Amino acid sequence: MAHHDTLVYSQPDRNLAMELVRATEAAAIRAVPFIGRGDKNAADKAAVDAMRKFLGTVNFDGVIVIGEGEKDKAPMLYNGEHVGNGRGPSCDIAVDPIDGTSLTAAGRQNAISMIAVSDRGSMLDASTVFYMDKIVCGAEGIGVVDIRKPIGENIRALAKAKGKDVHDIVVAVLDRPRHAQLIEDIRAAGAGTRLLLDGDVAGGINAARYETRLDLCVGIGGSPEGVATACAIKAMGGLIQGVLAPKDDAERQRGIDAGLKMDYVYSNDELVKGENTFFVATGVTDGQLVDGVRRKGPIIRTESIVLRSRSGTVRRVIADHLAEKWLGDIDDVEA
Ligand code: FBP
Repeated sequence: MAHHDTLVYSQPDRNLAMELVRATEAAAIRAVPFIGRGDKNAADKAAVDAMRKFLGTVNFDGVIVIGEGEKDKAPMLYNGEHVGNGRGPSCDIAVDPIDGTSLTAAGRQNAISMIAVSDRGSMLDASTVFYMDKIVCGAEGIGVVDIRKPIGENIRALAKAKGKDVHDIVVAVLDRPRHAQLIEDIRAAGAGTRLLLDGDVAGGINAARYETRLDLCVGIGGSPEGVATACAIKAMGGLIQGVLAPKDDAERQRGIDAGLKMDYVYSNDELVKGENTFFVATGVTDGQLVDGVRRKGPIIRTESIVLRSRSGTVRRVIADHLAEKWLGDIDDVEA
């Protein structure tokens, strides 16, 4: 049987992400009642509960490498927890039931629910260092853009590689005081900024996509978000580099003790190894990447992207869900 299982699960045309998308859809749907209600923890909890329930039905043995924190701090989807029905491939999984909990609570745009999956042992466990400095762009930036170079130089090099004027380059960056100088430097180079209130996973993906106005996403955001973005970039093509950005010496030391490298440029391949990555995201609120959840009479409509690196496919999945099935307790929702 074991031989048979191996054969079945190594079929190249199995797209695990097509199953995982049900879990981000569920998380997004259940977060909706909390949009604009000012309670980000309640929104997150609803999304976590739904994601966990739906992940339980997926044919894989996932270990959460990037989750909602440590076991005693978050009762569900904690780092090290096994998810899935245990049958099928052994995988690492990164979950963010809502990337943009504050956006959701405020009723702002660009909140998504996301999951990234790769082979067991292939995701960088950067959980000891909260922040990472990142640079993300499309494939034109490979061998051209380098996080160690000043931003102005990167902007000019990318503009040349894309055959664009520097003034047409648009750079996404989280709107944080720590980025004041970076923002100034981007504008001084002649490029425009798109300041993100939150959500640098969607920002990074949009920078790598062909059909958006964004060319680059730069700056310091969450390390877990960096690893998740790397899974998506593997499927779409593009460049991501990350340098850990510890807040103080103690965090830096904790990172070193955990085997992480400081002052070191992590490439896409080091953030997530191998060519077998999956990434799914469903819109919670409307955004540049995906539309948010919509209620249309008896139907709830979700929009998701479903990415798989081995095939290099980027799918957009619109799903209509019967609203009445989603009422009541999550335990009563059929998964
Ligand atoms: P959560 O909604 O999961 O808390 O993350 C939102 C986010 O904006 C991430 O997209 C980003 O990487 C990180 O927070 C930035 O951290 P900070 O808000 O501390 O600058």
